[in-house]
Amino acid sequence: MNEMILLEHVGKSFGDFQVLQDINLSVAPGEKIVICGPSGSGKSTLIRCINRLAPHDTGTIIVEQQDVASKQGSEHVRREVGMVFQNFNLFPHLSVVDNCTLAPMKVRGLSKQEADDLAMTYLRRVHISEQAHKKPCQLSGGQQQRVAIARALCMNPKVMLFDEPTSALDPEMVGEVLEVMTELALDGMTMLCVTHEMGFARKVADRVVFMDAGRIVEIAPPTEFFDNPQHARSRAFLSQISH
Ligand SMILES: Nc1ncnc2c1ncn2[C@@H]1O[C@H](COP(=O)(O)OP(=O)(O)OP(=O)(O)O)[C@@H](O)[C@H]1O
Ligand SMILES: [Mg+2]
Repeated sequence: MNEMILLEHVGKSFGDFQVLQDINLSVAPGEKIVICGPSGSGKSTLIRCINRLAPHDTGTIIVEQQDVASKQGSEHVRREVGMVFQNFNLFPHLSVVDNCTLAPMKVRGLSKQEADDLAMTYLRRVHISEQAHKKPCQLSGGQQQRVAIARALCMNPKVMLFDEPTSALDPEMVGEVLEVMTELALDGMTMLCVTHEMGFARKVADRVVFMDAGRIVEIAPPTEFFDNPQHARSRAFLSQISH
């Protein structure tokens, strides 16, 4: 009834290829969902459908009572849902702080001073305020990803979507990004994270969603999913990634 996100019978095709089939998922406010599954199973497409970066073909996606397929609903998700990508997607020509102030000034109508103050608040929160005046290329991958998280938070989102936020990072930088994501989770943010960081999933996720070939195969709390997966596909997947 008061779910934050509701997907009912969602389907999507690229030409003849059905990338999502009959996806059903309800996410409560404050819930943390980890989405995992083999390459090509539709994980990125699923979260891109939630914030309308990719339109679904069939079924319904409701975010905070609004149908994302409607004009009003799509504007709503653009404002209320933050997204962090694998490759950071920072604007290379803008400083860290300007990356963070752009959308709040354009979309939320903040003054430069208000947006600067907000940006510094979130850059402090991801422990990177001392880099505020550098360009993205002067930062490490882990630092750039933390900036990308701060940039999303500056829009004061109700939901954060992460698409493999640590998979492009050198191993020694994965921890600092997961730490920031864990802090965000502890603050009560509603989060959907595509990740294969199973330590993070065990620690932070309320439920793990396992996808294969465009379908949700299994949804379970992390201890159940990792220690006692119910489906042969989940077991095969876990045996591949656990070593
Ligand atoms: N714009 C597109 N046009 C055509 N096919 C696409 C498009 N985007 C994705 N696909 C196909 O849809 C399928 C699912 O892609 P998606 O990126 O959602 O998978 P994924 O689970 O995120 O995979 P990965 O783990 O490699 O990121 C893949 O077979 C992919 O080739
Ligand atoms: Mg993907």
